[in-house]
Amino acid sequence: YTNTKDFPKSFLWGASTSAYQVEGAWNEDGKSPSIIDMCNHPEGTADFKIASDHYHRYKEDVKLFAEMGLKAYRFSIAWTRIIPYGVGEINEKGINFYNDLIDELIKNNIEPIVTMYHFDLPYVLEQKGGWGNRDTINAFLGYAKVLFERFGSKVKYWLTINEQNTMILHPGAIGTPKGSTLPSKKELYKQNHHMLLAQALTMKLCHEMCANGKIGPALNTTAMYQDTSNPDDAIAAHNWESIRCWNFLDVAVKGVYNPLAWSYLVDRKLAPTIQDGDMEILKNGKPDFVAINYYSTATIAASKNDASDVSARAGDQQIMLGEQGVYRATENPYVGKTKYGWVVDPVGLRMTLRKVYERYNLPILITENGIGAPDVLEEDDIVNDDYRIEYIKKHLEQLQLAITDGVDVMGYCPWSAIDVVSTHQGYGKRYGFIYVDRDEFDLKDLRRIKKKSFYWYKNVIVTNGSDL
Ligand code: BG6
Repeated sequence: YTNTKDFPKSFLWGASTSAYQVEGAWNEDGKSPSIIDMCNHPEGTADFKIASDHYHRYKEDVKLFAEMGLKAYRFSIAWTRIIPYGVGEINEKGINFYNDLIDELIKNNIEPIVTMYHFDLPYVLEQKGGWGNRDTINAFLGYAKVLFERFGSKVKYWLTINEQNTMILHPGAIGTPKGSTLPSKKELYKQNHHMLLAQALTMKLCHEMCANGKIGPALNTTAMYQDTSNPDDAIAAHNWESIRCWNFLDVAVKGVYNPLAWSYLVDRKLAPTIQDGDMEILKNGKPDFVAINYYSTATIAASKNDASDVSARAGDQQIMLGEQGVYRATENPYVGKTKYGWVVDPVGLRMTLRKVYERYNLPILITENGIGAPDVLEEDDIVNDDYRIEYIKKHLEQLQLAITDGVDVMGYCPWSAIDVVSTHQGYGKRYGFIYVDRDEFDLKDLRRIKKKSFYWYKNVIVTNGSDL
C-alpha cells in the first residue's frame, strides 16, 4: 500500500479478563463453585480462590483502566454468582457486584463488553450431566434472560461462549473437575451441539430483549499454513481450518454445520443427534459481529498416521496441536515463539482477519491477543516488559494492514488488562498491563503496579493508533 488506513474513530481500544482468573472471592456472597473451582491445579501453581482479588478491588482497577485510557473492557460474568444453583433463584449480591462494576466502567467512559460464559459452568449443573444434558440449554437461556433483564439497558456488547472450540477440541487444556474423566469425543460433540443451540437461542433472545444489544460468538480463531506445496499438505491444512474454526463459526453465523467438518464427524461416528427443530433454532440465531481470540497460527502437513502427527508441535498452545490420522502439526521456521513455545505470528493475525471477514462479512472484534511472560518486578516498582510492547505493536501494525485490506475491525481487547491467573502457569506467566504483586502462594499485598506497557498502550490509545 502507498497509504495505510487510520484506525476508525470509534475503534474500541480495550483489554480483557475473565471472572475466574481475575476476581477471586470464589465462595463469597453466595457464589457457588464452578467446574473450574473443582479442578485440580498443576502442581506449584496458584489456584483461582483469590486470583487478583478484583472482586474486592474493582474500583481501584477500573480507575487504573481509565488512567490507561481504555475505551472498552471485556470481562466475564460468573454464572455461579448470578444463579448459584444453575437454575432458579437469583443471587442479588452477585447482581449487585456486576451492576457496580458496570456503573463504575460507564462512569469512566469505558464500554463494558460482557462474556456470558468463560469456561465456568456451575458445578451443580456438571453433576447433572453438564453440557451433555439437554436441560443445560434451557438453564443457560434462563441465565441469559437474567443478564439481559438486569444489565441489558447498560451493556451494548455481549459475547456468548468463550472459546467453545478449545473446550470441545482440547477439554484437558481447561481442566476436568476432580474425580471426573475427560469425556469421549462423541460426548464432546454432543456437548458442542447443545452449546451451539444455547448460543443461537441466546443471540435471538438478546435481539428481542435489548434494543441496542449486539452479540456474537468468541472463538479461538486462527489461520493455518500448509507445510509445503505438496497438494496433500494443502488438503490437510484445509481440513484443519474446517474442523478447528469454521465448524464452530459456520454454525454461529450461517446456522449450518460446515460440510467438510460434518463429513469428518459422520465418518468417525462423532456426529451429534440432531433433533427436530434444532436446525431451525440454529438458523434463527444471528450474531451482529464475530469476536476472535488470536494468539498463534499453526502449520499443517498431511498426516503420517502416527504419534508424530501430534508430537511435532506447531506450538504449545493446546488448540494448535495436530490430530493423529487427520493432520500433522509441523514447525514453521518463519515465525517466532514465546518462552512457553507459543508461535508468535503477527502477520497471521492479518491473515486470520482477512479470512474471517471474507467468509462472514461481519465486523470483527478481537477479544484476546497477548504474550505470556514471567515479568519481573524490579526495584522502584518497575516492570520492563518491552517484549509485550513489541508483541502488541507488531500485531497492531498487522491489524492496521487488515483494516487497509478492507476488513471491518471494531476493536482490540488484548489479554489481559491486569495480571490474572494463567490456566497452566499461575502467576509465573503474566499477560497484564498492570502487575499484581503476589506470587504463586505468597499473596504479599496484591498491590497494583503499572508496567512499562501500560504507559505505551496509553499513548497508543490517546493517539488512536497513529503512534505505535
Ligand atoms: C485463552 C483463554 O485461550 O488463553 C484465557 O480464553 C487464557 O482464559 C488465555 O488465560 C491464555 O492462556 P494461558 O494458559 O496462558 O492462561
